[in-house]
Amino acid sequence: MTESSENTDAPAGREISIRTRGLDLKYGDFQALFDVTLDIEKGIITSLIGPSGCGKTTLLRSFNRINERYGNVTTTGEITVLGKNIYDSDVSLSELRKSVGMVFQRPNPLPISIYENVVFGLKSHTPRGGLKKPELDGHVEWALKQVHLWESTRDRLEDKATGLTLEQQQKLCIARLLPLKPQVILMDEPCSALDADGIARVEELIRELRKEFTIVMVTHNMGQAKRASDECIFMYLGRIVEHASTHELFFNPKENETAMYIEGRYG
Ligand SMILES: Nc1ncnc2c1ncn2[C@@H]1O[C@H](COP(=O)(O)OP(=O)(O)OP(=O)(O)O)[C@@H](O)[C@H]1O
Ligand SMILES: [Mg+2]
Repeated sequence: MTESSENTDAPAGREISIRTRGLDLKYGDFQALFDVTLDIEKGIITSLIGPSGCGKTTLLRSFNRINERYGNVTTTGEITVLGKNIYDSDVSLSELRKSVGMVFQRPNPLPISIYENVVFGLKSHTPRGGLKKPELDGHVEWALKQVHLWESTRDRLEDKATGLTLEQQQKLCIARLLPLKPQVILMDEPCSALDADGIARVEELIRELRKEFTIVMVTHNMGQAKRASDECIFMYLGRIVEHASTHELFFNPKENETAMYIEGRYG
């Protein structure tokens, strides 16, 4: 997708990556999102938090229209990514998902080699024969270095990715997005399958990546939201209750529902 200059009505100096206006979403007759209006800033980490079933995953998945794979979804309202309405008739879903990549709760590498996982997206977006081996090798080394997997996998790139540890698999799932140069990376509870050490290392990696990519992450872990994100959005029953800097939201919440949630009184 190309960037548009009529990007946002954000204050000067604040560039907006994802903007929604009056977004409603239904699965069949069931309404999961109500009147969602938000601006997600470019180049920061924003966490979506809130009790189970409040619509975090649904909202996250609407940013690259991957929701449409999960049943009878109807959406009204507006979503723009870098100034481009993602429901415009000229939007290619494949280009949108290249530009807005996604990491899921359970690491889901393809049952092929580590090397082929990293270049899979790149190859599928390039005309056949368009990328030669040395070029692909360069992408693999670069992407694996970005996620700190290069040293541990460089001698076994032809091994099946499914043989890696869960932490390594999740890092690989992040790595395979990077050669596509996404504008935004969506992460749905990216650490929930990992142990404490894995969580710490993947959080650190996410912090590093935000220098180059806008990250929107769903998390149930309040400690993680506090440690890893710059801004937080608290959702409840399909609505945005509060969107603020992480510090404000945790230490000076404006809404009673936010305060009750972060105090652990529900959810
Ligand atoms: N494919 C679907 N078809 C019908 N209803 C769905 C579908 N996916 C989600 N829902 C419903 O939409 C609401 C929001 O679900 P969603 O998965 O977005 O919540 P969530 O905040 O991510 O929850 P959790 O924290 O448990 O992951 C829930 O009531 C859920 O049952
Ligand atoms: Mg969810």
